[in-house]
Amino acid sequence: MSFTTRLAASNNLRFQTDSWQPKPRNRMFILGMGFVGQFFSQELKTQGWSVAGTCTSIMKKKKLMDSGFDIYHFDANEPETNVLDVLKHHTHLVVSVPPLVGIGDPMLHHEKLLRSILKGGNLRWLGYLSSTSVYGNYGGEWVDEDCPANPTGELGKSRLAAEEGWLTLGHNLGLSVHVLRLGGIYGPGRSAVDTIIKQDALSKSQRSRVHKQYTSRVHVVDICQALKASICASNSTPREVYNIVDDDPAPREEVFAYARSLIEKKWPGHLKQLPEQDKCSATVKEEDVLDEKRVPMLI
Ligand SMILES: NC(=O)c1ccc[n+]([C@@H]2O[C@H](COP(=O)([O-])OP(=O)(O)OC[C@H]3O[C@@H](n4cnc5c(N)ncnc54)[C@H](OP(=O)(O)O)[C@@H]3O)[C@@H](O)[C@H]2O)c1
Repeated sequence: MSFTTRLAASNNLRFQTDSWQPKPRNRMFILGMGFVGQFFSQELKTQGWSVAGTCTSIMKKKKLMDSGFDIYHFDANEPETNVLDVLKHHTHLVVSVPPLVGIGDPMLHHEKLLRSILKGGNLRWLGYLSSTSVYGNYGGEWVDEDCPANPTGELGKSRLAAEEGWLTLGHNLGLSVHVLRLGGIYGPGRSAVDTIIKQDALSKSQRSRVHKQYTSRVHVVDICQALKASICASNSTPREVYNIVDDDPAPREEVFAYARSLIEKKWPGHLKQLPEQDKCSATVKEEDVLDEKRVPMLI
């Protein structure tokens, strides 16, 4: 299996980003400086953008501010208007805060407040980071952006509702809104090799994927590339949905077998010292087992 990652995006995103030139007036605000948010911020910063963002912990805020970012402590359940006022003066917004089961997208509970504050501001483009989970179960068939989203689980349903909510809000504000449906994210510090070496117990969602035949993945660098391409395309495409995945959906077990072979090659004998991961105790919900699809790279 090739671990070379290639961007899987729709034809609309398939164009050269070599001409990518940050304009001095471009200001990015990232709601949720998580894994992708931080990676993208670093990249934008090196390209001359002014970047601000949010996180939910004071410790993390300090760390990110020490790295030179303009960071706000922010809880999407109770959005503070002073932070939204700051957001209003940015030209671009990435929304990375995930929805929650039973709650939905916490920000969209305050849609009216958001609309009233952001109206007449500087925002031009909004990128919402979504998930390929919105497609639901396609019985292992290939899916693309033209396939209807039909999520099976509560989280997928919340995600689809969040997509609609941000598309509508952005439209009402006259913004270009792009939804990026991401596969499983990997990158530095977050890979099958890292998971094996750290020997952390599998998370609930990792356990649910143990027996899956197809998991689409995407490297964080490719997500950043797609975000930049989306920004470049914003004038011609006011409202778009893109699948952002590698071109090789594969079973988790196959990926982990390959990761183990890499570890064995680099540190012979190391794996023998690690306890076997407890795959058998995985409790798999019916909806997770059934949620099989392959998200391709379109050429
Ligand atoms: N992980 C995957 O494989 C995967 C696959 C498809 C889609 N996605 C989605 O893609 C997006 C980016 O992924 P990621 O891995 O970069 O996510 P991440 O690291 O979990 O980052 C999520 C960000 O949202 C913030 N956040 C969460 N709840 C919040 C709340 N109530 N109020 C304010 N901020 C809140 C977090 O704050 P803190 O920084 O304080 O934690 C964090 O900055 C997420 O929406 C994720 O669900 C992930």
